[in-house]
Amino acid sequence: MCGIVGYVGKERALPRVLSGLKFLEYRGYDSAGVAYLFNDEVKITKEVGRISSLEKLIDLDADSYMAIGHTRWATHGEPSVSNSHPHRIGKFTVVHNGIIENYLSLKEDLKKKGIKFLSSTDTEVIPALLDYYYKSEKDILKTIKKVIGILEGSFALGIICDDDKENIYAVRRGSPLILALDKMGMFIASDVPAILCYTNKYILLEQNEIAKINKNSYQVYDQNLKEIKKEVKTFEGSQDAAMLNGYEHYMLKEIHEEEKVYLDTLNYYVSDNSFKETMPEFKKYNNIHIVACGSAYYVGCIAKNLIENYANIPVYVEVASEYRYKKNFYDSNTLVIIISQSGETADSLEALRRAKNDGIDTLAIVNVVLSSIAREAKYTLYVKAGPEIAVATTKAFLAQTTLMALLAVRLSRKNELLKEFVGVEKYINEILSRNYLDYAKEIAKSNDTFFIGRLVDYALCLEGSLKLKETAYINSVAFQAGELKHGTISLITKGTPVIGICTCHEIAPKTISNLKEVAARGAKIIYITSEEVEDNFYDKLIILPKLADLVMPIITVIPLQLIAYEVAKLKGCDIDKPRNLAKSVTVE
Ligand code: G6P
Repeated sequence: MCGIVGYVGKERALPRVLSGLKFLEYRGYDSAGVAYLFNDEVKITKEVGRISSLEKLIDLDADSYMAIGHTRWATHGEPSVSNSHPHRIGKFTVVHNGIIENYLSLKEDLKKKGIKFLSSTDTEVIPALLDYYYKSEKDILKTIKKVIGILEGSFALGIICDDDKENIYAVRRGSPLILALDKMGMFIASDVPAILCYTNKYILLEQNEIAKINKNSYQVYDQNLKEIKKEVKTFEGSQDAAMLNGYEHYMLKEIHEEEKVYLDTLNYYVSDNSFKETMPEFKKYNNIHIVACGSAYYVGCIAKNLIENYANIPVYVEVASEYRYKKNFYDSNTLVIIISQSGETADSLEALRRAKNDGIDTLAIVNVVLSSIAREAKYTLYVKAGPEIAVATTKAFLAQTTLMALLAVRLSRKNELLKEFVGVEKYINEILSRNYLDYAKEIAKSNDTFFIGRLVDYALCLEGSLKLKETAYINSVAFQAGELKHGTISLITKGTPVIGICTCHEIAPKTISNLKEVAARGAKIIYITSEEVEDNFYDKLIILPKLADLVMPIITVIPLQLIAYEVAKLKGCDIDKPRNLAKSVTVE
Protein backbone atom coordinates (compact mmCIF):
# COMPACT_ATOMS: atom_id res chain seq x y z
CA MET A 1 0.00 0.00 0.00
CA CYS A 2 2.29 2.75 -1.20
CA GLY A 3 6.02 2.36 -1.58
CA ILE A 4 8.78 4.60 -0.32
CA VAL A 5 12.38 4.88 -1.50
CA GLY A 6 14.96 7.46 -0.45
CA TYR A 7 18.65 7.73 -1.29
CA VAL A 8 21.47 10.00 -0.18
CA GLY A 9 25.01 9.34 -1.33
CA LYS A 10 27.83 9.81 -3.77
CA GLU A 11 25.90 8.67 -6.87
CA ARG A 12 23.09 10.51 -8.64
CA ALA A 13 19.99 9.97 -6.56
CA LEU A 14 17.16 10.04 -9.10
CA PRO A 15 18.08 6.89 -11.07
CA ARG A 16 18.39 4.99 -7.79
CA VAL A 17 15.12 6.22 -6.37
CA LEU A 18 13.23 5.66 -9.64
CA SER A 19 14.59 2.14 -10.10
CA GLY A 20 13.70 1.34 -6.49
CA LEU A 21 10.18 2.66 -6.95
CA LYS A 22 9.69 0.40 -9.97
CA PHE A 23 10.34 -2.61 -7.76
CA LEU A 24 7.78 -1.31 -5.26
CA GLU A 25 5.06 -0.62 -7.81
CA TYR A 26 3.30 -3.79 -6.63
CA ARG A 27 2.47 -1.83 -3.47
CA GLY A 28 0.40 0.75 -5.30
CA TYR A 29 0.56 2.36 -8.68
CA ASP A 30 -2.02 5.07 -9.23
CA SER A 31 0.40 7.99 -8.96
CA ALA A 32 4.01 8.67 -8.05
CA GLY A 33 6.39 11.46 -7.15
CA VAL A 34 9.88 12.43 -6.08
CA ALA A 35 11.45 15.26 -4.11
CA TYR A 36 15.15 15.89 -4.72
CA LEU A 37 17.80 18.31 -3.69
CA PHE A 38 19.01 20.29 -6.70
CA ASN A 39 21.11 23.46 -6.56
CA ASP A 40 20.45 23.56 -2.81
CA GLU A 41 16.69 23.61 -3.32
CA VAL A 42 14.10 20.87 -2.86
CA LYS A 43 12.36 20.23 -6.20
CA ILE A 44 9.24 18.11 -6.48
CA THR A 45 7.89 16.24 -9.51
CA LYS A 46 4.66 14.22 -9.34
CA GLU A 47 2.46 12.49 -11.89
CA VAL A 48 -0.70 10.43 -12.02
CA GLY A 49 -0.24 6.84 -13.25
CA ARG A 50 2.79 4.62 -13.27
CA ILE A 51 6.42 5.32 -12.42
CA SER A 52 7.11 5.24 -16.17
CA SER A 53 4.90 8.34 -16.58
CA LEU A 54 6.76 10.11 -13.78
CA GLU A 55 10.10 9.13 -15.29
CA LYS A 56 9.27 11.00 -18.50
CA LEU A 57 9.11 14.25 -16.50
CA ILE A 58 12.44 13.74 -14.77
CA ASP A 59 16.01 14.41 -15.83
CA LEU A 60 17.75 11.35 -14.44
CA ASP A 61 21.12 13.01 -15.01
CA ALA A 62 20.27 15.93 -12.75
CA ASP A 63 23.06 16.63 -10.26
CA SER A 64 21.09 15.55 -7.26
CA TYR A 65 22.51 13.29 -4.58
CA MET A 66 19.59 13.20 -2.20
CA ALA A 67 15.99 12.25 -3.06
CA ILE A 68 12.85 10.66 -1.65
CA GLY A 69 10.18 9.03 -3.81
CA HIS A 70 6.77 7.46 -3.48
CA THR A 71 4.37 5.23 -5.40
CA ARG A 72 0.79 5.60 -4.22
CA TRP A 73 -2.34 3.50 -3.71
CA ALA A 74 -4.97 6.11 -2.96
CA THR A 75 -6.80 5.95 0.35
CA HIS A 76 -7.66 9.58 1.15
CA GLY A 77 -8.32 11.57 -2.00
CA GLU A 78 -8.44 10.42 -5.61
CA PRO A 79 -5.28 9.75 -7.59
CA SER A 80 -4.22 13.24 -8.74
CA VAL A 81 -1.06 15.30 -8.88
CA SER A 82 -2.03 17.35 -5.83
CA ASN A 83 -2.81 14.23 -3.78
CA SER A 84 0.41 12.45 -4.83
CA HIS A 85 3.40 12.41 -2.52
CA PRO A 86 5.79 14.01 -1.65
CA HIS A 87 3.81 16.61 0.27
CA ARG A 88 5.53 19.78 1.30
CA ILE A 89 4.62 22.47 3.81
CA GLY A 90 7.08 25.15 4.93
CA LYS A 91 10.50 23.58 5.32
CA PHE A 92 9.37 19.94 5.38
CA THR A 93 8.85 17.51 2.52
CA VAL A 94 7.40 14.09 3.32
CA VAL A 95 6.52 10.75 1.73
CA HIS A 96 4.16 8.53 3.72
CA ASN A 97 2.91 4.96 3.69
CA GLY A 98 0.01 4.19 6.03
CA ILE A 99 -3.01 6.07 7.34
CA ILE A 100 -3.21 8.94 9.83
CA GLU A 101 -6.44 8.22 11.65
CA ASN A 102 -6.75 11.54 13.48
CA TYR A 103 -5.92 13.68 10.46
CA LEU A 104 -9.32 15.42 10.30
CA SER A 105 -9.07 16.94 13.76
CA LEU A 106 -5.38 17.74 13.24
CA LYS A 107 -6.18 19.44 9.96
CA GLU A 108 -8.91 21.55 11.56
CA ASP A 109 -6.50 22.70 14.31
CA LEU A 110 -3.77 23.48 11.81
CA LYS A 111 -6.17 25.41 9.59
CA LYS A 112 -7.10 27.55 12.58
CA LYS A 113 -3.39 28.33 12.93
CA GLY A 114 -3.43 29.65 9.36
CA ILE A 115 -1.89 26.64 7.60
CA LYS A 116 -3.19 26.10 4.07
CA PHE A 117 -3.62 22.61 2.64
CA LEU A 118 -3.39 21.75 -1.02
CA SER A 119 -4.55 18.12 -1.03
CA SER A 120 -7.34 15.99 0.35
CA THR A 121 -4.87 13.48 1.83
CA ASP A 122 -4.35 12.51 5.43
CA THR A 123 -0.59 12.77 4.80
CA GLU A 124 -0.41 16.54 4.39
CA VAL A 125 -0.93 17.10 8.11
CA ILE A 126 2.50 15.51 8.68
CA PRO A 127 4.68 18.17 6.98
CA ALA A 128 2.31 20.77 8.43
CA LEU A 129 2.88 19.51 11.98
CA LEU A 130 6.61 19.13 11.43
CA ASP A 131 6.91 22.65 10.12
CA TYR A 132 4.76 24.04 12.90
CA TYR A 133 6.61 22.38 15.79
CA TYR A 134 10.05 22.90 14.26
CA LYS A 135 9.60 26.60 14.88
CA SER A 136 9.61 25.98 18.63
CA GLU A 137 11.70 22.78 18.87
CA LYS A 138 14.39 24.11 16.47
CA ASP A 139 15.79 20.59 16.12
CA ILE A 140 14.68 18.11 13.48
CA LEU A 141 14.90 14.94 15.58
CA LYS A 142 13.07 16.54 18.50
CA THR A 143 10.42 17.78 16.10
CA ILE A 144 9.90 14.32 14.62
CA LYS A 145 9.66 12.85 18.12
CA LYS A 146 7.05 15.45 19.04
CA VAL A 147 4.99 14.90 15.88
CA ILE A 148 4.90 11.10 16.05
CA GLY A 149 3.57 11.54 19.56
CA ILE A 150 0.61 13.39 18.05
CA LEU A 151 -0.08 11.12 15.08
CA GLU A 152 -2.52 8.23 15.44
CA GLY A 153 -2.60 5.40 12.93
CA SER A 154 0.15 3.80 10.90
CA PHE A 155 3.01 5.40 9.09
CA ALA A 156 6.38 4.93 7.48
CA LEU A 157 7.83 8.32 6.65
CA GLY A 158 10.70 9.68 4.60
CA ILE A 159 11.40 13.29 5.56
CA ILE A 160 13.59 16.07 4.17
CA CYS A 161 14.01 19.42 5.91
CA ASP A 162 15.24 22.49 3.99
CA ASP A 163 17.60 23.30 6.87
CA ASP A 164 19.50 20.02 6.55
CA LYS A 165 20.94 19.41 3.10
CA GLU A 166 22.79 16.23 4.12
CA ASN A 167 20.36 13.94 5.86
CA ILE A 168 17.15 12.11 5.11
CA TYR A 169 15.07 11.29 8.15
CA ALA A 170 12.80 8.27 8.51
CA VAL A 171 10.46 6.85 11.10
CA ARG A 172 7.90 4.09 11.23
CA ARG A 173 4.95 2.84 13.24
CA GLY A 174 2.92 -0.02 11.79
CA SER A 175 3.94 0.34 8.15
CA PRO A 176 7.27 -1.30 7.28
CA LEU A 177 10.51 0.55 6.51
CA ILE A 178 14.12 -0.53 6.11
CA LEU A 179 17.44 1.26 5.83
CA ALA A 180 19.97 -0.11 3.36
CA LEU A 181 23.66 0.48 3.05
CA ASP A 182 26.03 0.41 0.14
CA LYS A 183 29.51 1.82 -0.45
CA MET A 184 28.04 4.68 -2.40
CA GLY A 185 25.36 5.80 0.04
CA MET A 186 22.32 4.96 2.13
CA PHE A 187 18.72 4.13 1.32
CA ILE A 188 15.37 4.01 3.01
CA ALA A 189 12.78 1.70 1.45
CA SER A 190 9.46 0.02 2.17
CA ASP A 191 10.76 -3.38 1.12
CA VAL A 192 14.00 -5.14 0.22
CA PRO A 193 13.48 -5.62 -3.57
CA ALA A 194 13.73 -1.83 -3.96
CA ILE A 195 17.41 -1.82 -3.07
CA LEU A 196 18.61 -5.20 -4.30
CA CYS A 197 20.16 -3.74 -7.49
CA TYR A 198 22.60 -1.92 -5.24
CA THR A 199 23.00 -3.79 -1.99
CA ASN A 200 21.69 -6.70 0.06
CA LYS A 201 22.66 -5.18 3.42
CA TYR A 202 19.77 -3.75 5.33
CA ILE A 203 18.49 -2.75 8.76
CA LEU A 204 14.92 -3.23 9.94
CA LEU A 205 13.43 -0.23 11.66
CA GLU A 206 11.28 -1.17 14.64
CA GLN A 207 8.14 0.59 15.85
CA ASN A 208 8.71 4.29 16.59
CA GLU A 209 12.41 4.20 15.80
CA ILE A 210 13.73 7.30 14.06
CA ALA A 211 16.58 7.07 11.56
CA LYS A 212 18.87 9.63 10.03
CA ILE A 213 20.92 8.73 6.95
CA ASN A 214 23.58 10.60 5.02
CA LYS A 215 26.12 9.69 2.37
CA ASN A 216 28.57 8.18 4.86
CA SER A 217 26.63 6.96 7.85
CA TYR A 218 23.36 6.29 9.59
CA GLN A 219 22.01 6.72 13.10
CA VAL A 220 18.95 5.12 14.62
CA TYR A 221 17.26 6.52 17.73
CA ASP A 222 14.62 5.16 20.07
CA GLN A 223 11.53 7.11 21.10
CA ASN A 224 13.58 9.07 23.65
CA LEU A 225 16.13 10.00 20.99
CA LYS A 226 18.71 7.76 22.55
CA GLU A 227 20.95 6.37 19.81
CA ILE A 228 20.65 2.60 19.45
CA LYS A 229 22.78 -0.04 17.79
CA LYS A 230 21.10 -1.96 15.01
CA GLU A 231 21.91 -5.31 13.47
CA VAL A 232 22.82 -5.17 9.78
CA LYS A 233 21.08 -8.06 8.02
CA THR A 234 21.96 -9.66 4.69
CA PHE A 235 19.16 -10.52 2.31
CA GLU A 236 19.83 -14.00 0.98
CA GLY A 237 17.57 -14.09 -2.08
CA SER A 238 18.87 -12.94 -5.43
CA GLN A 239 17.92 -9.93 -7.49
CA ASP A 240 16.95 -12.40 -10.22
CA ALA A 241 13.88 -13.25 -8.23
CA ALA A 242 12.65 -9.71 -8.79
CA MET A 243 13.34 -9.70 -12.57
CA LEU A 244 11.15 -10.91 -15.43
CA ASN A 245 13.89 -13.12 -16.88
CA GLY A 246 12.32 -13.37 -20.31
CA TYR A 247 8.73 -13.95 -19.21
CA GLU A 248 6.07 -11.62 -20.49
CA HIS A 249 4.59 -11.06 -17.05
CA TYR A 250 5.60 -11.66 -13.46
CA MET A 251 2.40 -13.64 -12.94
CA LEU A 252 3.42 -16.16 -15.62
CA LYS A 253 7.00 -16.26 -14.37
CA GLU A 254 5.87 -16.86 -10.82
CA ILE A 255 3.45 -19.64 -11.82
CA HIS A 256 6.35 -21.30 -13.63
CA GLU A 257 8.41 -21.14 -10.44
CA GLU A 258 5.90 -23.36 -8.65
CA GLU A 259 7.81 -26.59 -9.05
CA LYS A 260 10.82 -25.01 -7.32
CA VAL A 261 8.70 -23.28 -4.72
CA TYR A 262 7.05 -26.59 -3.87
CA LEU A 263 10.38 -28.34 -3.45
CA ASP A 264 11.96 -25.47 -1.51
CA THR A 265 9.06 -25.42 0.94
CA LEU A 266 8.93 -29.20 1.29
CA ASN A 267 12.68 -29.59 1.71
CA TYR A 268 12.85 -26.88 4.33
CA TYR A 269 10.58 -28.87 6.63
CA VAL A 270 11.04 -32.48 5.55
CA SER A 271 13.98 -34.72 4.88
CA ASP A 272 13.88 -38.47 4.17
CA ASN A 273 10.16 -38.62 4.86
CA SER A 274 10.60 -37.17 8.36
CA PHE A 275 10.01 -33.72 9.73
CA LYS A 276 13.10 -31.65 10.43
CA GLU A 277 13.36 -29.58 13.58
CA THR A 278 12.19 -26.58 11.54
CA MET A 279 8.66 -27.96 12.03
CA PRO A 280 7.53 -27.83 15.69
CA GLU A 281 5.21 -30.55 16.99
CA PHE A 282 2.29 -28.34 18.06
CA LYS A 283 1.17 -31.16 20.34
CA LYS A 284 -1.01 -29.31 22.81
CA TYR A 285 -3.54 -27.79 20.42
CA ASN A 286 -6.99 -29.32 20.07
CA ASN A 287 -8.68 -26.37 18.41
CA ILE A 288 -7.43 -24.25 15.53
CA HIS A 289 -8.47 -20.88 14.17
CA ILE A 290 -7.12 -19.77 10.81
CA VAL A 291 -7.27 -16.07 10.04
CA ALA A 292 -6.21 -14.33 6.83
CA CYS A 293 -7.31 -12.07 3.96
CA GLY A 294 -7.88 -12.64 0.25
CA SER A 295 -6.13 -15.63 -1.27
CA ALA A 296 -4.43 -16.43 2.02
CA TYR A 297 -7.92 -16.86 3.51
CA TYR A 298 -8.71 -19.38 0.77
CA VAL A 299 -5.56 -21.29 1.69
CA GLY A 300 -7.08 -21.33 5.17
CA CYS A 301 -10.28 -22.86 3.74
CA ILE A 302 -8.23 -25.60 2.06
CA ALA A 303 -6.27 -26.16 5.27
CA LYS A 304 -9.47 -26.53 7.29
CA ASN A 305 -10.44 -29.50 5.11
CA LEU A 306 -6.99 -31.07 5.36
CA ILE A 307 -6.47 -30.57 9.10
CA GLU A 308 -9.98 -31.74 10.01
CA ASN A 309 -9.75 -34.81 7.77
CA TYR A 310 -6.23 -35.89 8.59
CA ALA A 311 -5.59 -34.58 12.10
CA ASN A 312 -9.15 -34.74 13.42
CA ILE A 313 -8.87 -31.28 14.96
CA PRO A 314 -11.72 -28.80 14.50
CA VAL A 315 -10.71 -25.74 12.50
CA TYR A 316 -12.51 -22.43 12.34
CA VAL A 317 -11.56 -20.14 9.42
CA GLU A 318 -12.37 -16.44 9.31
CA VAL A 319 -11.30 -13.39 7.32
CA ALA A 320 -9.10 -11.16 9.44
CA SER A 321 -11.19 -8.00 9.11
CA GLU A 322 -14.11 -9.85 10.75
CA TYR A 323 -12.18 -11.97 13.22
CA ARG A 324 -10.54 -9.06 14.93
CA TYR A 325 -13.88 -7.51 15.91
CA LYS A 326 -15.99 -10.56 16.71
CA LYS A 327 -16.50 -12.71 19.75
CA ASN A 328 -13.99 -15.53 19.52
CA PHE A 329 -14.24 -18.79 21.39
CA TYR A 330 -10.75 -19.89 22.24
CA ASP A 331 -8.65 -21.05 25.15
CA SER A 332 -5.09 -22.04 26.01
CA ASN A 333 -5.34 -25.11 23.76
CA THR A 334 -6.30 -23.06 20.74
CA LEU A 335 -3.74 -22.18 18.11
CA VAL A 336 -4.51 -19.10 16.01
CA ILE A 337 -2.82 -19.40 12.62
CA ILE A 338 -2.34 -16.23 10.59
CA ILE A 339 -1.58 -16.83 6.91
CA SER A 340 -0.08 -13.91 4.99
CA GLN A 341 2.20 -13.73 1.97
CA SER A 342 3.46 -10.24 2.82
CA GLY A 343 3.30 -10.54 6.58
CA GLU A 344 2.17 -6.92 6.65
CA THR A 345 -1.57 -7.06 5.93
CA ALA A 346 -3.04 -4.70 8.51
CA ASP A 347 -6.17 -6.70 9.37
CA SER A 348 -4.21 -9.95 9.68
CA LEU A 349 -1.63 -8.25 11.88
CA GLU A 350 -4.34 -6.79 14.12
CA ALA A 351 -6.09 -10.18 14.38
CA LEU A 352 -2.77 -11.66 15.49
CA ARG A 353 -2.31 -8.92 18.07
CA ARG A 354 -5.81 -9.45 19.38
CA ALA A 355 -5.21 -13.20 19.88
CA LYS A 356 -1.89 -12.42 21.57
CA ASN A 357 -3.54 -9.90 23.88
CA ASP A 358 -6.09 -12.54 24.79
CA GLY A 359 -3.21 -14.84 25.74
CA ILE A 360 -3.72 -17.26 22.83
CA ASP A 361 -0.78 -18.89 21.03
CA THR A 362 -0.21 -17.73 17.47
CA LEU A 363 1.48 -19.25 14.44
CA ALA A 364 2.40 -17.17 11.38
CA ILE A 365 2.57 -18.75 7.92
CA VAL A 366 4.42 -16.05 6.03
CA ASN A 367 6.52 -15.58 2.90
CA VAL A 368 8.32 -12.29 3.59
CA VAL A 369 11.12 -12.88 6.05
CA LEU A 370 11.08 -10.76 9.22
CA SER A 371 7.83 -9.06 8.25
CA SER A 372 5.68 -7.75 11.11
CA ILE A 373 3.42 -10.82 11.35
CA ALA A 374 6.46 -13.12 11.20
CA ARG A 375 8.13 -11.24 14.01
CA GLU A 376 5.14 -10.84 16.30
CA ALA A 377 3.76 -14.39 16.24
CA LYS A 378 4.77 -16.95 18.86
CA TYR A 379 5.76 -19.42 16.12
CA THR A 380 6.61 -18.57 12.51
CA LEU A 381 6.82 -21.01 9.63
CA TYR A 382 8.08 -19.49 6.40
CA VAL A 383 6.89 -20.60 3.00
CA LYS A 384 9.75 -20.62 0.55
CA ALA A 385 8.15 -18.80 -2.35
CA GLY A 386 10.75 -16.04 -2.76
CA PRO A 387 9.79 -12.47 -3.73
CA GLU A 388 6.38 -12.36 -5.40
CA ILE A 389 5.97 -9.31 -7.62
CA ALA A 390 2.68 -9.85 -9.49
CA VAL A 391 -0.14 -8.41 -7.45
CA ALA A 392 -2.27 -11.55 -7.88
CA THR A 393 -0.62 -14.23 -5.79
CA THR A 394 0.19 -17.59 -7.39
CA LYS A 395 3.39 -19.23 -6.24
CA ALA A 396 2.93 -18.03 -2.66
CA PHE A 397 -0.56 -19.58 -2.67
CA LEU A 398 0.91 -22.90 -3.80
CA ALA A 399 3.67 -22.69 -1.21
CA GLN A 400 1.18 -21.84 1.56
CA THR A 401 -1.03 -24.75 0.50
CA THR A 402 1.99 -27.06 0.59
CA LEU A 403 2.96 -25.89 4.05
CA MET A 404 -0.58 -26.21 5.40
CA ALA A 405 -0.76 -29.77 4.04
CA LEU A 406 2.51 -30.50 5.86
CA LEU A 407 1.09 -28.95 8.99
CA ALA A 408 -1.97 -31.21 8.69
CA VAL A 409 0.40 -34.19 8.70
CA ARG A 410 2.33 -32.79 11.66
CA LEU A 411 -0.85 -32.31 13.65
CA SER A 412 -2.11 -35.79 12.66
CA ARG A 413 1.15 -37.31 13.97
CA LYS A 414 0.98 -39.79 11.08
CA ASN A 415 4.41 -39.19 9.59
CA GLU A 416 3.88 -41.98 7.08
CA LEU A 417 1.64 -39.52 5.19
CA LEU A 418 4.77 -37.59 4.19
CA LYS A 419 5.34 -40.10 1.42
CA GLU A 420 2.39 -38.53 -0.43
CA PHE A 421 4.54 -35.45 -1.04
CA VAL A 422 7.24 -37.40 -2.84
CA GLY A 423 7.37 -36.68 -6.56
CA VAL A 424 4.53 -34.13 -6.61
CA GLU A 425 6.93 -31.70 -8.31
CA LYS A 426 6.91 -33.86 -11.45
CA TYR A 427 3.14 -33.47 -11.69
CA ILE A 428 3.40 -29.73 -11.09
CA ASN A 429 5.85 -29.53 -13.94
CA GLU A 430 3.62 -31.54 -16.27
CA ILE A 431 0.51 -29.44 -15.47
CA LEU A 432 2.52 -26.26 -16.04
CA SER A 433 3.54 -27.46 -19.49
CA ARG A 434 -0.05 -27.77 -20.76
CA ASN A 435 -1.82 -25.17 -22.87
CA TYR A 436 -4.88 -23.50 -21.33
CA LEU A 437 -5.73 -21.08 -24.12
CA ASP A 438 -8.80 -22.98 -25.33
CA TYR A 439 -10.39 -22.92 -21.89
CA ALA A 440 -9.55 -19.26 -21.57
CA LYS A 441 -11.19 -18.39 -24.89
CA GLU A 442 -14.47 -19.81 -23.64
CA ILE A 443 -14.35 -17.70 -20.49
CA ALA A 444 -13.06 -14.52 -22.12
CA LYS A 445 -16.22 -14.35 -24.26
CA SER A 446 -18.40 -14.10 -21.20
CA ASN A 447 -19.07 -11.44 -18.56
CA ASP A 448 -19.99 -13.90 -15.81
CA THR A 449 -18.41 -17.16 -14.77
CA PHE A 450 -19.27 -19.66 -12.04
CA PHE A 451 -17.00 -22.04 -10.18
CA ILE A 452 -18.65 -24.90 -8.35
CA GLY A 453 -17.27 -27.65 -6.15
CA ARG A 454 -17.76 -29.28 -2.78
CA LEU A 455 -15.58 -29.28 0.36
CA VAL A 456 -11.91 -28.71 -0.47
CA ASP A 457 -12.84 -28.26 -4.13
CA TYR A 458 -15.11 -25.40 -3.10
CA ALA A 459 -12.13 -23.74 -1.40
CA LEU A 460 -10.23 -24.07 -4.68
CA CYS A 461 -13.23 -22.62 -6.52
CA LEU A 462 -12.99 -19.54 -4.31
CA GLU A 463 -9.38 -19.00 -5.35
CA GLY A 464 -10.04 -19.74 -9.03
CA SER A 465 -12.87 -17.25 -9.01
CA LEU A 466 -10.81 -14.56 -7.27
CA LYS A 467 -7.97 -14.97 -9.77
CA LEU A 468 -10.40 -14.39 -12.63
CA LYS A 469 -11.95 -11.34 -10.96
CA GLU A 470 -8.69 -9.67 -10.05
CA THR A 471 -6.66 -10.32 -13.20
CA ALA A 472 -9.32 -10.53 -15.97
CA TYR A 473 -12.07 -8.32 -14.46
CA ILE A 474 -14.65 -11.02 -15.05
CA ASN A 475 -17.53 -11.18 -12.62
CA SER A 476 -17.10 -14.60 -11.20
CA VAL A 477 -18.85 -16.41 -8.37
CA ALA A 478 -17.74 -19.50 -6.47
CA PHE A 479 -20.47 -21.67 -5.05
CA GLN A 480 -20.77 -24.89 -3.12
CA ALA A 481 -21.96 -27.19 -5.89
CA GLY A 482 -25.05 -28.31 -4.00
CA GLU A 483 -26.08 -24.79 -3.05
CA LEU A 484 -26.25 -23.27 -6.51
CA LYS A 485 -29.75 -24.50 -7.15
CA HIS A 486 -31.05 -22.61 -4.11
CA GLY A 487 -31.39 -19.35 -5.97
CA THR A 488 -28.21 -18.50 -7.82
CA ILE A 489 -28.90 -20.96 -10.64
CA SER A 490 -31.30 -18.34 -11.99
CA LEU A 491 -28.20 -16.51 -13.29
CA ILE A 492 -27.20 -19.39 -15.56
CA THR A 493 -28.15 -18.72 -19.16
CA LYS A 494 -27.11 -20.13 -22.51
CA GLY A 495 -23.33 -20.07 -22.81
CA THR A 496 -22.52 -19.11 -19.19
CA PRO A 497 -19.17 -20.76 -18.37
CA VAL A 498 -19.32 -22.98 -15.28
CA ILE A 499 -16.07 -24.46 -14.05
CA GLY A 500 -16.68 -27.58 -12.00
CA ILE A 501 -13.91 -28.89 -9.80
CA CYS A 502 -14.09 -32.41 -8.42
CA THR A 503 -11.10 -34.04 -6.81
CA CYS A 504 -13.07 -35.61 -3.94
CA HIS A 505 -14.15 -38.80 -5.62
CA GLU A 506 -16.61 -40.11 -3.11
CA ILE A 507 -18.81 -37.12 -3.85
CA ALA A 508 -18.11 -36.91 -7.58
CA PRO A 509 -21.57 -38.20 -8.57
CA LYS A 510 -23.17 -35.37 -6.59
CA THR A 511 -21.01 -32.66 -8.14
CA ILE A 512 -21.58 -34.16 -11.57
CA SER A 513 -25.35 -34.00 -10.99
CA ASN A 514 -25.03 -30.32 -10.16
CA LEU A 515 -23.04 -29.75 -13.31
CA LYS A 516 -25.68 -31.54 -15.34
CA GLU A 517 -28.31 -29.27 -13.79
CA VAL A 518 -26.53 -26.20 -15.12
CA ALA A 519 -25.65 -27.88 -18.44
CA ALA A 520 -29.39 -28.46 -18.91
CA ARG A 521 -29.85 -24.71 -18.63
CA GLY A 522 -27.31 -23.96 -21.33
CA ALA A 523 -24.11 -23.55 -19.29
CA LYS A 524 -20.78 -24.36 -20.93
CA ILE A 525 -19.01 -26.71 -18.56
CA ILE A 526 -15.28 -26.90 -18.00
CA TYR A 527 -14.75 -29.92 -15.78
CA ILE A 528 -11.58 -30.30 -13.73
CA THR A 529 -11.13 -33.71 -12.17
CA SER A 530 -8.59 -36.43 -11.52
CA GLU A 531 -10.73 -39.34 -12.66
CA GLU A 532 -11.74 -40.58 -16.06
CA VAL A 533 -15.28 -39.43 -16.82
CA GLU A 534 -17.64 -41.60 -18.79
CA ASP A 535 -20.56 -39.23 -19.08
CA ASN A 536 -20.28 -36.48 -21.62
CA PHE A 537 -21.88 -33.60 -19.74
CA TYR A 538 -18.98 -31.19 -20.15
CA ASP A 539 -17.73 -29.03 -23.01
CA LYS A 540 -14.10 -29.11 -22.00
CA LEU A 541 -12.21 -31.38 -19.66
CA ILE A 542 -9.03 -31.01 -17.61
CA ILE A 543 -7.81 -34.31 -16.25
CA LEU A 544 -5.30 -34.02 -13.46
CA PRO A 545 -3.11 -36.80 -12.09
CA LYS A 546 -4.82 -38.72 -9.31
CA LEU A 547 -2.82 -38.05 -6.16
CA ALA A 548 -3.67 -38.39 -2.46
CA ASP A 549 -6.34 -35.93 -1.24
CA LEU A 550 -3.67 -34.39 0.97
CA VAL A 551 -1.67 -33.02 -1.96
CA MET A 552 -4.41 -32.71 -4.58
CA PRO A 553 -5.10 -28.99 -3.86
CA ILE A 554 -1.43 -28.20 -4.57
CA ILE A 555 -1.74 -29.31 -8.18
CA THR A 556 -5.40 -28.39 -8.74
CA VAL A 557 -4.84 -24.67 -8.28
CA ILE A 558 -2.35 -24.49 -11.17
CA PRO A 559 -4.86 -24.74 -14.07
CA LEU A 560 -7.03 -22.15 -12.30
CA GLN A 561 -4.11 -19.73 -12.16
CA LEU A 562 -3.09 -20.33 -15.77
CA ILE A 563 -6.65 -20.02 -17.06
CA ALA A 564 -7.03 -16.66 -15.27
CA TYR A 565 -3.70 -15.56 -16.72
CA GLU A 566 -4.69 -16.53 -20.28
CA VAL A 567 -8.11 -14.86 -19.98
CA ALA A 568 -6.50 -11.66 -18.68
CA LYS A 569 -4.06 -11.76 -21.58
CA LEU A 570 -6.80 -12.30 -24.15
CA LYS A 571 -8.65 -9.34 -22.69
CA GLY A 572 -5.55 -7.15 -22.74
CA CYS A 573 -5.65 -6.55 -18.99
CA ASP A 574 -2.79 -5.14 -16.99
CA ILE A 575 -1.93 -8.56 -15.63
CA ASP A 576 0.73 -7.77 -13.04
CA LYS A 577 -0.90 -4.59 -11.77
CA PRO A 578 -4.67 -5.00 -11.97
CA ARG A 579 -6.72 -1.86 -11.52
CA ASN A 580 -7.61 -0.69 -8.01
CA LEU A 581 -5.52 -3.35 -6.25
CA ALA A 582 -2.36 -3.35 -4.21
CA LYS A 583 -0.41 -6.39 -3.18
CA SER A 584 0.26 -5.47 0.37
CA VAL A 585 -2.76 -3.93 2.08
CA THR A 586 -1.38 -2.18 5.13
CA VAL A 587 -4.56 -0.22 5.83
CA GLU A 588 -7.54 -1.59 7.72
C1 G6P B 1 -4.46 -8.15 -0.94
C2 G6P B 1 -3.99 -8.81 -2.21
C3 G6P B 1 -4.45 -10.27 -2.21
C4 G6P B 1 -3.90 -10.96 -0.98
C5 G6P B 1 -4.38 -10.26 0.30
C6 G6P B 1 -3.69 -10.81 1.52
O1 G6P B 1 -5.83 -8.00 -0.95
O2 G6P B 1 -4.51 -8.14 -3.35
O3 G6P B 1 -3.94 -10.92 -3.36
O4 G6P B 1 -4.30 -12.30 -0.98
O5 G6P B 1 -4.05 -8.87 0.22
O6 G6P B 1 -2.32 -10.52 1.46
P1 G6P B 1 -1.24 -11.24 2.35
O7 G6P B 1 0.04 -10.55 2.04
O8 G6P B 1 -1.67 -11.04 3.78
O9 G6P B 1 -1.24 -12.68 1.97
